[in-house]
Amino acid sequence: MNCLQRELDLALSVVKDALMVLCEGAPAQVDLEPCDANPKELKALTDRTLDAILLEGLRESGYPILSEESGFVGKVRKDELRWIVDPLDGTVNYARNLGSCSISIALCRGRKPLFGVIGQYPTMELAWGGAVFDGAFLDGRPLTVSEIRSGAKAVLCTGIPSRFDYSPQATASLIGCMKRFGKIRMLGTASLSLLCVAKGAAEAYTEQEIMLWDVAAGVAIVEGAGGVVRIYPGREEHSCHVFASNGVLGDWEGCAKDEY
Ligand code: IPD
Ligand code: CA
Repeated sequence: MNCLQRELDLALSVVKDALMVLCEGAPAQVDLEPCDANPKELKALTDRTLDAILLEGLRESGYPILSEESGFVGKVRKDELRWIVDPLDGTVNYARNLGSCSISIALCRGRKPLFGVIGQYPTMELAWGGAVFDGAFLDGRPLTVSEIRSGAKAVLCTGIPSRFDYSPQATASLIGCMKRFGKIRMLGTASLSLLCVAKGAAEAYTEQEIMLWDVAAGVAIVEGAGGVVRIYPGREEHSCHVFASNGVLGDWEGCAKDEY
């Protein structure tokens, strides 16, 4: 048995519980409010409701938790193990009925995701995986990245995070990356964009100044599905630039590296 099996079982059960709450009660809590610190960040009460459920559920593990809604809770351990939690990734999709959203948990060593669990709403599908488990799964079915090598045939999932600064440099870097792909999609959720790479529906995902909690679980699942992920530090604490791909795309290196 994998030495992290207990942690995986806990994460799966906590995400399932939170998904049920999302299904049953939370739709009443969808008024969106901009954050004081960042007016481009919109929050619903649902974010906090799910946060409380997840934090309570994960507490029995004894690991500290870095959550989008609560910050760092607990004490740093010597082995640096910690949960990284996004209670609701795709809040605007959820509140405005624009598409899917997810509940996302990763067990990380420092900033390095070891495994991730993503509960998708409204499909209620559960994805999990990571290189430590040597695999990734969606409702029990193994996930594998696509084998598409040609940029012209490839799909890039991306987004404009609330911390994207719209500088000429950042904009040129994003457009330069987008130009290499046949098709571009913006799903409004980083975790589910990464899941698309893991299941071979897209070949790559990139975002600049995305927060670690948005991507940690998805990054682990892409790695478990055989993909490759590069994470570069961003400007803010916990922000990063991510480029994830199926690992066989040619000539994508410049996408995340050139400017940063
Ligand atoms: C957002 C989504 C979106 C990304 C934003 C994130 P949230 O997460 O992942 O795809 O472009 O940067 O903030 O705010 O709904 O958890
Ligand atoms: Ca969130």
